[in-house]
Amino acid sequence: MSTEPFDAVDVIATKRDRKRLSDPQIDWVIDAYTRGVVADEQMSALAMAIFLNGMDREEIKRWTDAMIASGERMDFGSLPRPTVDKHSTGGVGDKITLPLAPLVACFGVAVPQLSGRGLGHTGGTLDKMESIRGWHASLTNEEMMAQLGTGPGAVICAAGAGLAPADRKLYALRDTTATVECVPLIASSIMSKKIAEGTHALVLDVKVGSGAFMKTRARAEELAHTMVDLGTDAGVDTVALLTDMSTPLGRTVGNALEVREAVEVLAGGGPSDVVELTLALAREMLTHAGHPDADPEAALADGRAMDAWRAMVRAQGGDPDAPLPQSTHTETVVAEAGGYVTEMDALAVGVSSWRLGAGRARKEDPVQAEAGIEIHAKPGDLVRAGQPILTLHTRTPERFDRAKAALSGAINIGPDAPDIPDSVVLGRIAPR
Ligand code: URA
Repeated sequence: MSTEPFDAVDVIATKRDRKRLSDPQIDWVIDAYTRGVVADEQMSALAMAIFLNGMDREEIKRWTDAMIASGERMDFGSLPRPTVDKHSTGGVGDKITLPLAPLVACFGVAVPQLSGRGLGHTGGTLDKMESIRGWHASLTNEEMMAQLGTGPGAVICAAGAGLAPADRKLYALRDTTATVECVPLIASSIMSKKIAEGTHALVLDVKVGSGAFMKTRARAEELAHTMVDLGTDAGVDTVALLTDMSTPLGRTVGNALEVREAVEVLAGGGPSDVVELTLALAREMLTHAGHPDADPEAALADGRAMDAWRAMVRAQGGDPDAPLPQSTHTETVVAEAGGYVTEMDALAVGVSSWRLGAGRARKEDPVQAEAGIEIHAKPGDLVRAGQPILTLHTRTPERFDRAKAALSGAINIGPDAPDIPDSVVLGRIAPR
């Protein structure tokens, strides 16, 4: 006879029938799933019931706490510096972590960026960093603490398997059961890892638009509020910026191409939207770390952020002076007509770059460091017919046809200048 206090079927039926899950039900189902007592098919049914019927604030908080309790908790309390982390919900061309972490660290703040690899059309920070010769993502907890405490202060590394293992299992399941785009499940997934990591403060970059999980502003606001509530309830000083992901961020998409652009920002240049978002997030992080008067713009201009980047790359075996991998094959996409670029769909560009080899379909697939897309004209730019809009890069030219097919209808050109918002930051969500 089973000694388990609940039956998975009853828990699923509770949510199927639009009722609240009790605290003991939540604690049990997460723990039993981690132990393998609740089967994948049962958890899939429960995830779909949550997807369809939602969870209230208390349920989401309990679900998050149960996922945290499934693993270890880190503690940065012994560090001589305040810790602030940033998390982006993921987008196309989003290389912001690369310049941001060293930029904030050069003000004496510890920045632990526990990052992931890309899956699907959004790139992963670790894949980008791995295009730097010699750089490695795996650090022991001791190495990470040394890098944060007495070393460069910024670390970008793989999250250890011990943090929220229930989420690791559940996220992989959601990925294959059409249950990813669900506010309670995304919020609890992201925040369980961030709270378990032990950061003092957290700045969230919640993306809105075709290349993001949340396609509309209302849904992105709901996600941001839910995550800010979870962080605040757990004692993490949390704020969110809502930022545009209707068009790719910056002028490159792909691993080595994005590293190149991040280094341009660290050298005081780079595309204006990448610089703007890097500075907006840096100001939030520095304010939450007790440095409201810090001037991150000056640190980009005078080389302090670049010095911190070079130290951070070297600390993890990387050579910041090594040339980045270059593609062996390129093709150009040109403007079909003259006029203003009115639209460049982020999702389509992300899928195209993924098909060129920059992303992976399964988590064990390799990625091409050099694959991706350079963007020569963006919405608002005036172009002539035949002018290059994109350059596609890959090592495997047989990929060009499918990559170009993904771009069908993605770039629109018209006679009138489009209304482009003057800032990539669309809003700010603070604790209520
Ligand atoms: N990132 C996560 O870590 N979890 C989600 O559910 C979605 C994005």
